[in-house]
Amino acid sequence: PHIVILAGGLSHERDVSIRSGRRVADALRGAGCEVVVRDVDASLLGRLADDRPDVVWPLLHGATGEDGSIHDILELLGLPVVGSDPRASRVAWNKAIAKSIVLGAGLPSPDYVTLQQSVFRELGAGSVLQGLSRSLGMPVVVKPNRGGSALGVTLTTDADELPHALVHAFSYGDVALVERAVTGTEIGVSVIETDEGPVALPGVEVVTDGPYDYDARYNPGRAEYFTPARISDELRGEVDRVAVAAFRALGLRDLARVDLIVDGDDVPQFLEVNVSPGMTETSLFPQAVTASGSSLGEAYRGIAERAFR
Ligand code: DAL
Ligand code: MG
Repeated sequence: PHIVILAGGLSHERDVSIRSGRRVADALRGAGCEVVVRDVDASLLGRLADDRPDVVWPLLHGATGEDGSIHDILELLGLPVVGSDPRASRVAWNKAIAKSIVLGAGLPSPDYVTLQQSVFRELGAGSVLQGLSRSLGMPVVVKPNRGGSALGVTLTTDADELPHALVHAFSYGDVALVERAVTGTEIGVSVIETDEGPVALPGVEVVTDGPYDYDARYNPGRAEYFTPARISDELRGEVDRVAVAAFRALGLRDLARVDLIVDGDDVPQFLEVNVSPGMTETSLFPQAVTASGSSLGEAYRGIAERAFR
């Protein structure tokens, strides 16, 4: 098959996307696919018309890559696309909406509120702080409501640190998600679609000294990974069940990675889902593929072929 990979784009995760794109392209070529990698700019539509690919795989991360907008354009062009459709991508990209849908499906996810930057400005830090401490308590995790790779994310244990954490999150977007912090085992579960429906690949447990932040994610040796996660078989089954149920509830397609934390009561708490999971050397999705006994080339070729057959 002839596959066009989209990588790069103008988001905070541009570099990650370039690395993901390169790595997936190499694996697909190794599996006998013809691959062209394209950046996303004003000339994209013309070049896609010339390329006439069997399928386009957007390995874009961050806004305009995961928020459904590129998917809208590809849909207009009538091109088969790897991954979730525009509507599901848009929903998944919005952490608060994704959480509310997952909660509505009866799955566990930590308590949260969202806060608009304009409200923060109007009410002032003092009153926002009081409100948040009352509704969620401490510690909390403050995140941009739409964002990736842990950029703009702060674990906040002391209410006095909240204004700074919020300002940091607002530097990535105008809505912040404030979520009750859960301590436990952090696991990324990659889900791929098969003829029998979506299935979970072995969960990857992430262990870091400090936060699992951008540096820890993309510099080899900064995080330790255990695949499958070091939890009981029974709990592993429950983690997989929650990941696949979230994938279904959000109406996702082809592939995704669901990030969860197994809390102190052995409850897998849904944190978020990534419709375009990282595919770099240190990313979780490729580690899960390898642990499942498949080669990256075979697995990626299978994913791409499903999307256009
Ligand atoms: N947003 C990054 C690429 C990830 O979720 O893997
Ligand atoms: Mg993410």
